[in-house]
Amino acid sequence: MRATAKAHTNIALIKYWGKRNEELILPTNNSLSITLDGFYTETTVHFNEELTEDVFILNDQVISGVPYNQVTAYLDLFRDHVQKPTLFAEVNSINKVPTAAGFASSASGFAALAAASARALDLQLTDQQLSRFMRRGSGSACRSIYGGFVEWEKGSQEDGSDSYAIQIAPKDHWDVRVAAVVLNAKEKDLSSRKGMKRTVDTSIFYDAWLENVPKDLKEIKEGIQARDFEKVGTIAEANCMKMHATTLGAQPPFTYWQNVTMDVMQTIWKMRSDGTLAYFTIDAGPNVKVLYLPDNEEKILQTLRNIDGVSEVIVSKVGEGISYL
Ligand code: DP6
Repeated sequence: MRATAKAHTNIALIKYWGKRNEELILPTNNSLSITLDGFYTETTVHFNEELTEDVFILNDQVISGVPYNQVTAYLDLFRDHVQKPTLFAEVNSINKVPTAAGFASSASGFAALAAASARALDLQLTDQQLSRFMRRGSGSACRSIYGGFVEWEKGSQEDGSDSYAIQIAPKDHWDVRVAAVVLNAKEKDLSSRKGMKRTVDTSIFYDAWLENVPKDLKEIKEGIQARDFEKVGTIAEANCMKMHATTLGAQPPFTYWQNVTMDVMQTIWKMRSDGTLAYFTIDAGPNVKVLYLPDNEEKILQTLRNIDGVSEVIVSKVGEGISYL
């Protein structure tokens, strides 16, 4: 009853922003991401009849408090599934997602935890079933099941049975790069979970967001199939701007951006007007991710590293889906 799984994190080009069911983590809109090879979590789950409670070890440290409670609550889903309420586990995770890079480790974290738990219990799940389990930990985690370019279908069923990820194109379809621009800025104080809830509940711009996503999604999928970088970048950047615009219409209004976030955005716009194709996207935090093609790598990285307030730029290629070790 032991298994180890490795999952990479992902970056959304069309953002998941809002839930229609908070408990089941069902989204209000489809989203689309690239799985990244640079950042991952490796997790071993060992279910053991002799344990009297779960144990969670992260990067060699025994964890208690909120993260521990999240892991045990999540393992309850598997205990329920096999109808063994007292079957506890030791979870041992190595997280190679630098939190400073502004990637939520929750996507790779819950994807690896779900895959290792299912394998440890020998559940023989289909990809759809496994992606649905991942979704229950953190919405964006359900996209990390696959490598390459991945869409999360919001589904329409109330029980979430049709809300899971599908692969749009595999890793080898297209060599696009993503640079994580790490800023000397303080960590976000409003989690994505809280930010999206406030936005859904109060933002006067939220309906406009929802109306627009299907068009962005349709066009970006055409762009990905055709490897049309300008089209994909333009849509991804605009979709990010629309998501962040919804936060300004919330009550109370908020933004994840800081001054240096805007400095990076303006640098990208300037590079583009000078003829270098680079586009940005931003999640629920101040850091910026930059999309570009390999030919322009050197120039773009150098420009990004020269911005005041940028502490580090970390490059990722398109990554693989779940693997078992
Ligand atoms: C802005 O998946 O972290 O990164 O489902 O509440 O755990 P929960 O949220 P999470 O939200 C990610 C939001 C986003 C956009 C995206 O990844 O699609």
